[in-house]
Amino acid sequence: MTRPRIHVTRRLPEAVEARLAERFEVALNPGDTPPTRAGLEAAMRTADGLLPCVADRIDADLLALPDRRVRIVANFGVGVNNIDLAAAEAAGVVVTNTPDVLTDATADLAMALILAATRRMSETEAALRRGDWRGFAPTGWLGMGLQGKTLGILGMGRIGQATARRAALGFGMRIAYFNRSATGPFDFPAEPCDSIEALLAAADVVSLHLPGGGPRPLTAERIAGMKRGAYLVNTARGDVVDEAALAEALASGRLAGAGLDVFAEEPKVPPALLALPNVTLLPHIGSATLETRTAMGMLAVDNLVAHFDGAPLPSRVGR
Ligand code: DGY
Repeated sequence: MTRPRIHVTRRLPEAVEARLAERFEVALNPGDTPPTRAGLEAAMRTADGLLPCVADRIDADLLALPDRRVRIVANFGVGVNNIDLAAAEAAGVVVTNTPDVLTDATADLAMALILAATRRMSETEAALRRGDWRGFAPTGWLGMGLQGKTLGILGMGRIGQATARRAALGFGMRIAYFNRSATGPFDFPAEPCDSIEALLAAADVVSLHLPGGGPRPLTAERIAGMKRGAYLVNTARGDVVDEAALAEALASGRLAGAGLDVFAEEPKVPPALLALPNVTLLPHIGSATLETRTAMGMLAVDNLVAHFDGAPLPSRVGR
């Protein structure tokens, strides 16, 4: 019996690739080169299933290729803003993602960025490496303590809640949150806000946990409404923030600092942000632990196996 052919766009953890190879005829990417448009088109034409990552744009043209063979796109990632879901639905292509398994790793990184921003870690480490450290100084490089401060969570889904739990129970922060739909109760204290504006005005640190690909929630106007001296952390998607307005607010000192793991046009990072000392910039590593990336890959494989076995899909997107 011929085995379904799966095209994998990037190198995956060894255990995941081994499992794929056991079950499928698999086209891997041992060199880990990002796929070209032509490469993705060829994959859509020659494979039964595609396993892309969140950096691969699976747009309407790809999904509407007249000789497309792919019937399932098993995204390596919980966010699916890289995939045109309406076009997939119209074309009858199944889309799956990898929720839950990356919640803790991403919340850990959000907490790390909260600490990095408020304790000025990037700025002070850079000074030390430059040789600008003259020894301990009682008033040198003071940051902001977290205890009793308000963390504003924008988007109280799985990762928002996991971040809030860490901040409340581990660091003694007060939690305020805004979520489009009613949510809770939680196993930590948290106060809902009626609007994004109210949340931004109240929070000493704002952490973003919203999907990308929609209207931008953190506009220049809303950034201007953040509390003076506040911090912003983004482990969600770069396009949820007006990056130019954020850079201006950080440069003027209206915002004290930021920690960003995601950018609107990855891997491009706006030069205005690169030039600022008071922002920690990371290359989209929220889920980047071996354990988590392996679990993400295994869940993508679970989805592929279920699809080709005609079984219920563990994590289908939409429906
Ligand atoms: C996701 O899964 O959406 C993350 O951004 C990458 O792990």
